[in-house]
Amino acid sequence: MGELIRVCRVSDLPDPGKAVFDVSGRMIALFHVSGTFWALDDMCTHDGGPLAEGELHGYTIVCPRHGAQFDIRTGQAKTMPAVRATTAHKVVVKGDEVYVELNEES
Ligand code: FES
Repeated sequence: MGELIRVCRVSDLPDPGKAVFDVSGRMIALFHVSGTFWALDDMCTHDGGPLAEGELHGYTIVCPRHGAQFDIRTGQAKTMPAVRATTAHKVVVKGDEVYVELNEES
């Protein structure tokens, strides 16, 4: 198991909400929806758009550059022009603290 890195407090993010954090030098988009947190690379696989600056609709984030949609729970690309998933990272909540375990494989 990888290292858990503390990112923020549960109360730092509204629900629904999103924010970007520098997690050990990697820009991570953290999402809070329906009481659960998810984390993705803050990077659209189409052309590097900053995903967390897009609109969040339910479990879908819309890239602000050209509108590709991603599932925040898996990183899967749902619509063109993106065809590849962005990397998803494990999130662990302990009490009021939110931790991310970086997926170093991609
Ligand atoms: S950079 Fe995200 S859709 Fe083009």
